Amino acid sequence: MKLGVNIDHVATLRQARYAGAPTAAEPEPSVLCAAQAALDGGADSITLHVREDRRHMQDEDAREVRRTIPLPLNLEMGATPAMLEFALALRPDYVCLVPERRLEVTTEGGLDVHGRSQMMKELVDRLTEGGTRVSMFIDPEDAQVEASAAVGSPMVELHTGRYANSAGEAHEQELQRLIHAAELAHALGLEVHAGHGIRLSHLPELARVPHLAELNIGHTIISRALLIGLANAVREMKRAIRAVQWTT
Ligand code: PXP
Repeated sequence: MKLGVNIDHVATLRQARYAGAPTAAEPEPSVLCAAQAALDGGADSITLHVREDRRHMQDEDAREVRRTIPLPLNLEMGATPAMLEFALALRPDYVCLVPERRLEVTTEGGLDVHGRSQMMKELVDRLTEGGTRVSMFIDPEDAQVEASAAVGSPMVELHTGRYANSAGEAHEQELQRLIHAAELAHALGLEVHAGHGIRLSHLPELARVPHLAELNIGHTIISRALLIGLANAVREMKRAIRAVQWTT
């Protein structure tokens, strides 16, 4: 099981202080140092979300990490022509297409691949031609999984937010939805990733979701990093991932 570490919050903290002072010398914290610490802790890839409003990651952050850090780069981005051009120039290893709503705090729902399949297919084709593997960040719904396969995406990332934020019976139902979606995605030949809201305590349950190849985790790792350092927080998550028996 691979671990992609999302370091958007490092840029969020930097922008909280320096957004109004773009020419300041050595704005802290450094996204590049964070990516290096994630690498030191055993991250398998680095994830950055360059949002349309550039509220946290800036274009140069993505370019610097791409140039400097010897790990696969996973660029999360909205499905727009401007972001397509940015990705084609950056040439990340992976692009994860996500929905973006300007007022949301974080990515709230999955991408509607089913409803916008022609446009998604064009994006997948262009990115694939550019040498980037594409993933669709989708809710665990049959129509979205099937549409992702139909548009030629080789991977999906199942949105675990509703699972992570539910309790009791609803929580078990959300887990069942993830299990079903992962089975369907695998049967359709898709590589299956999962992410959003995942914490250490979820791992034993998530191990019941079959065919997962990678987890994408940000918030909890960066939160732990404030207390124990980023490399240690990544190490801690990697150890916990190794400690559970994943369903294949
Ligand atoms: N995957 C995607 C597509 C996301 O948008 C995010 C949040 O930026 C994550 C994973 C990571 O979620 P979290 O920060 O809650 O771990």
